Amino acid sequence: MSERSGAGGSHLGRTSGVAVVGWGVALPDTAVTNADLEARLDTSDRWITERTGIRERRIGGTTGQLAAAAARQALIAADASPGSVELLVLATSTPDQQIPATASAVQDALGLSCGAFDVNAACSGFVYALVAGAGTAGVGARRVLVVGADVMSRITDQGDRSTAVLFGDGAGAVVLDAVEGPGQLLGWDLGSDGSLRHLLQADVGGYIRMEGKEVFRRAVRVMVDSAEAAMARAGLTLADVDLLVPHQANTRIITAACERLGIPMERTAMVLDRTGNTSAASIPLALGDAAQSGMLAKGDVVLLVGFGAGMSWASAVLRWGP
Ligand code: UT7
Repeated sequence: MSERSGAGGSHLGRTSGVAVVGWGVALPDTAVTNADLEARLDTSDRWITERTGIRERRIGGTTGQLAAAAARQALIAADASPGSVELLVLATSTPDQQIPATASAVQDALGLSCGAFDVNAACSGFVYALVAGAGTAGVGARRVLVVGADVMSRITDQGDRSTAVLFGDGAGAVVLDAVEGPGQLLGWDLGSDGSLRHLLQADVGGYIRMEGKEVFRRAVRVMVDSAEAAMARAGLTLADVDLLVPHQANTRIITAACERLGIPMERTAMVLDRTGNTSAASIPLALGDAAQSGMLAKGDVVLLVGFGAGMSWASAVLRWGP
């Protein structure tokens, strides 16, 4: 380890925005298809596809391994050396250990020498981490690595058809650079209603339990409200959205929210059919997939919208491109 690890800053005389200068994604090799689940659970490909939109999910690895793989890709894409990263923020609700933060293992794996911490805001975690990372850039950090990673298969009862068909594992990452002026994070909205935390929970060492119908109903409402709030703070309208990147939990939730927001599905990033619900990884996975498949052009307005346990929600408006 270096003599001095970590980086600090002061807001005095330096107000910076951020720009996304690289991104990366990671999925485990093992695919679990609906047919695989059909063979061992009282479920069917038809039920899963019609009710969720999921066709397969990837399972395996640890949160630290997946996070490091996605982050490594993001650093390469940004042409950023490990030594240039001044903060690592890892969003996860499936840390590899209770102590220390999984960010510590990722920091070590990547050869970083900066501050590193985990954020747990469930499926909203990546957007929370993005806003936290951008905030530190506003007070002096010049480069921040933001990762969302979850191994949901570890906290899912594989014998429970109501959850086993939904969740998968993965990671996504972005590199944020401080830039002069307002930068690319144009607006954000973070919220939570802790009185609803019983709707979706996992005890320490236990499995996920969820009141799916109630989460569904509230998810659509908070996505719409949060998206509208973030766009208004950015000084934009919903008609300005070039790409919506929603949390990937259920196609029916996404289509219902899109309808209410007036955003067509052609302008919506989707990876759910291939990944299942990967919690904090889902938004950066969908963002990375959209960027890779040419759905994004310089100057595009990108709206990230997450929701999940807590009950938490989070939106961020980005102007895409260097
Ligand atoms: O990222 C965190 C946020 N989480 C979410 O966004 C999840 C939100 N909720 C949902 O996506 C949906 O509520 C689910 C996909 C979880 C469930 O869909 P649903 O349309 O709300 O179904 P349901 O829970 O009302 O269940 C309908 C029926 C039930 O049978 P009965 O009582 O009608 O006989 C369930 O037992 O479907 C049954 N069921 C299944 N059948 C086949 C539940 N899971 C399955 C299954 N296969 N895997």
